[in-house]
Order: sequence, then structure tokens, then C-alpha cells
Amino acid sequence: MCGIIGFKGTGLVTAELVEGLQRMEYRGYDSWGVAVMTKKGIFVEKKVGAIGDGKLEQPPVDALLGIAHTRWATHGGVTKTNAHPHLSKDKRFAVAQNGIVENYLELKSSLQKQGYQFKTSTDTEVIVHLIDAKLKQVKIFAEAVRLAFLELIGRNTIITLDQQTEQIVAIRNGSPLVIGHLPDGGVLLASDTLPLAGKARTVTYLDDQQLVVINDKVSVFAVKTGKPLKLHQQKFDFIEQKIDKAGFDHFMLKEIVEQQYTIKEAVSYSDQELLPLIKALKKARTIYTVGAGTAAFAAGQIARVLRVVAKLPVQELKAYEIDSYLPLMSAKDLLLAVSQSGETADTLDAVGKAQKRGVTIASIVNMIGSTLSRGSQYAYLSRSGPEICVASTKAYTAQLAWGYLLAMTIIGKHKQAQAEIGKVAKKLKGYFTDQTFRQLQKLAIDLAKHEHFFVIGKAQHFYTALEGALKIKEITYKHFEGFSAGELKHGVIALIDQGTPVFGIVGNDQYQADVLSALAEVRARGARTFGITARPNEFFDVHIPAIDGGNLDSITKIIPFQLLSYFLGIQQKNNPDKPRNLAKSVTVK
Ligand code: AGP
Repeated sequence: MCGIIGFKGTGLVTAELVEGLQRMEYRGYDSWGVAVMTKKGIFVEKKVGAIGDGKLEQPPVDALLGIAHTRWATHGGVTKTNAHPHLSKDKRFAVAQNGIVENYLELKSSLQKQGYQFKTSTDTEVIVHLIDAKLKQVKIFAEAVRLAFLELIGRNTIITLDQQTEQIVAIRNGSPLVIGHLPDGGVLLASDTLPLAGKARTVTYLDDQQLVVINDKVSVFAVKTGKPLKLHQQKFDFIEQKIDKAGFDHFMLKEIVEQQYTIKEAVSYSDQELLPLIKALKKARTIYTVGAGTAAFAAGQIARVLRVVAKLPVQELKAYEIDSYLPLMSAKDLLLAVSQSGETADTLDAVGKAQKRGVTIASIVNMIGSTLSRGSQYAYLSRSGPEICVASTKAYTAQLAWGYLLAMTIIGKHKQAQAEIGKVAKKLKGYFTDQTFRQLQKLAIDLAKHEHFFVIGKAQHFYTALEGALKIKEITYKHFEGFSAGELKHGVIALIDQGTPVFGIVGNDQYQADVLSALAEVRARGARTFGITARPNEFFDVHIPAIDGGNLDSITKIIPFQLLSYFLGIQQKNNPDKPRNLAKSVTVK
């Protein structure tokens, strides 16, 4: 939800900011803008739409420092005026924000009474006027920002650029902010580590309620008291990874195909590295897994495999529905949070609430240096590399692979799990062929005319049905609903009509018969059936080949959905990397 960047250093400031935004574009792509300071004043340029090649009309070449923002709109439509950064009336300073000012209406009316006029429909403009008002009282820019911030309610991270003091002042609260210290003394401040990769040698992760002033040096303060804090710099070994499409048309297809490698990386943990978590899991009275969206389905699969393989008492939860479980939680319990970004507000909120009850926190996160990892007692990474497409694919399967490794290690089968994942990786390599792509492209053409789809599965295939349906919704904007095969007769079957497409995920397992008979039942009522499985079957009108992954079917059977959503999205002329209305990192609640 919005990407923020600030830069002070040598070189082309605007180019540095634009490159940073390009690396963070997945955080929001409604509109974007830069504010850079030259000797003549602050220059602002904003654009509607995705950043793309990042071309500006007249970028000043002599800028000294600047800030920039890529937006995922919350308050106010997607227009140039509403895009950030916002300039103060006297053009002295500019502000960009990531978050929601929950009390903006009250603040707005009080500022209007003081004579401030509003030009945009954003909540951000309130911050601009509030800083201006405070500046009139305290004269010190950073102090004015701090005092203004203290009046805001909500999760808000803000960045400001001041002409007079030649400073960048930023505050983190809710969504992340990391300071990259460059070898030549320059400073890059960003919403995540991607813009810092290959540039910063050390980084400082700001905590919530911390304020940073960047001028000739970098100083950090506590927002509440204004007192200086120690600047904790740590080594940053995020090797620059080329963030390009590697010849694919879209990041989505590239990331789908990469899964043949990423699932192996995810299980590169040795048994010794997993041991501390395993000890904690064995000691725990109840284990909860938690996540949101795709990560919630990964959390469901991980919970299931920990129950089935390791026989542990594990309950999966949706991050945003944790409240009723909180009274049951105590220091005897462990919560394993699953997230690609490690910055999802709902997940962080759930973790925070559980932490207050004394629950031990473990996590499996894809992004390096995330808030979630840093706040976990047991932090593991899914090691898939940057996932740029908004829809999660490789991070999901990597987390499933890691969950399987964890469960198998608990029962002493660490090496076997790694070997099984290795075999699946090989099979995936054989699956990602032109032949598979052509078949799914053809299917996409066939399905494009439909608006409603259903998919049924059972046990591990139930979570796959949910995740498969989410993938298709995200990329194609079509109504695709996932159910447990068992649920069909309890109401869902009423939706089946002549020609309704119903997908069935059929594994070579004890649940095969249940899914096949569910398909037979819907077919008898006119449905057109699509079987996602290794071999054709009389119950299918259409067979969609999928790899038989055995215990790892949760990985192999999601792939056809990922590919189908991609090709169907293309068929619909959607941009699969940037689905409408979505942002990759949902840092607001
Ligand atoms: C995935 O395709 C979605 N974009 C979304 O559901 C996502 O999984 C969810 O917002 C959680 O994100 P996280 O993994 O970064 O916590």
C-alpha cells in the first residue's frame, strides 16, 4: 500500500528516486510523483497510472535531495491532484504518506476554521496543513512534523522534504521504513529493502513511533518524547537481484516458472536450523498458524501438514478473525505467522494481539528484514527472491515446501522431505513447457465467455481450491469460488446450472472418490466438469493435466490454477502483474 522513498546524496537525485519507485511499484500503482529540491526551490511532478519507464517532463538535473511516492489510493480518487507528494501552500515543504489518517475529517474541519483551504480530497493534505500550522508555533521543521504527527490517529508513515533546512524528515508508524546507508555517505530511505539492494552496505530499520532527520547526518528520535535514540546500523547483505522479467512478458509468468527452483531454496534449511523452532512447537500447548489472503491459505496448508504428519495440535486462523481466539491464548501457546511481505497490517495486528497474551511468535516470511521477521522469536525466510507480481505464486509454494520440511523434520525425515521436494522440482521443470502453456491458453479462450466458476477439493486440495479461486479472481476479475467437496450437498449445488464450469482437484489419495462423486453429482445437474489431475477420467468433460505430487500435491496442483489465471487474465486484456484495485503489501487495515 504505497511506496515511499527519500534520497540525499550524490548523483542524479530524480533518477535515484524514480528507480527506487520502480522497484517498489508493486506497493501501489494508481499514480506516482516526485518532489526534489534544487537551489531554486522544490520541484514537484506527478503522474497518473503505473510508473512504467518513469519518464518525467522536466526532471531537474541539479537536485540535491528529494522524496517520491507511488500511490494506492485510499482517500480521494486517482488523479494528478491527489497523487503525492503534496506541496505546502508556501512551497516550503512537501509531504508523502503511506497510511490512513483516521481522524482526518475532524482535523480538516479544525484546519478549515483556521483558514486553511483544501485542494485535494486526500487525508494527506491534512498533514501538510497541520505541519504548516505547527511550524508557525515552533519554527523548527522536524519538531513541527513531530507535533503534527502526534495529532494523527491511525497507522501512518510519512516523509517530508523541507527546502529551508534541506532536510528529509520521516516518521514510521504502521508501515515500514528502512534507512539505507550508502558507501559514499548518501542516504536512501524507503518503504522496503528492494530500492536499497546493491546500493546500501548497512541499514537501519526504523521501529514504529520513530522519527528520522536526514541532513548532513542521520538522526533518530522517539516521536512521543522527541528524545534522541541510538542509530542501530546493521549489515545489509541483500545481494542485488535483477528485478527484470528475464524474457517473460510478465513477472507473473516468470515467478510461476521460477517455482521449480524456489521450492528447493525454501527447504535449504538444515535440521539444526529448524531445531529451535521444533523444540518450541513440541512444547506448545496449542499452535496457531495465521496469515491473510494467499498467506492464510498457506497457513492453512502448513497447519494441516503439521497435524497430519507431525501430529501436533495446530489450528489455522485468519489474521483478521483472531479476536475470538485471544481469550484462549497464553504463554503456553505458539503462533506461526505466514506472510510474503512481513508487513501485512492484519497479520501484524494479529501477532501484536497474541504477543500481548504472552504467545511465542514464529514466522515464515519471504521479504528480508520485514517487521514480522524482526518481531518474531523464531524467524524463517521462504527464500524465493523478490516477488513482484501482486498475486502471490512462488512465495506461496515456497512456504508450503518449508512447512512440509518442518513437519517431516519433526518426525526425523528431514532428508526425505528435501529429496521429495527435489523430485517435485524436477517434475515442475518438465511441466513448464510450451505444450502445457498452449493447452492452458486454449482453455482460457474456451472459458473466457463464462463469469461464474466453481472448484472443489478435499483435505489438502480444499486449500488449493480456495487459493486457486483467489488467484483467478485476482487476475481475471471473474467469480471463481472454491469449496470443499463435502460442502456441495449442503447448499452450493443449488448454484449449478446447465454448462456451469466446475473444476475438481483430484489427487491420487484417499479423497479421490469423494471429489469424483461430487463431480458426478454436479455433472448430473448440467455442470461442465474440469478435472485437475494427472490422468483423464470418465467424470471429466475436460482434463487439465497436473503433476501427481503425492504429499506435495498442495504445490503441484496449484500450478495449473496459477497458469490458467495468467492466460485467462491475458485473454481478458488485464495486466496480470498489476490487477485492478490491489496492492501487494496491504499495510493498512
Ligand atoms: C496474494 O495473491 C494476494 N495479493 C494477497 O492475498 C496476499 O497474499 C495477502 O495480502 C497477504 O500478503 P502477505 O503474504 O504479504 O502477508
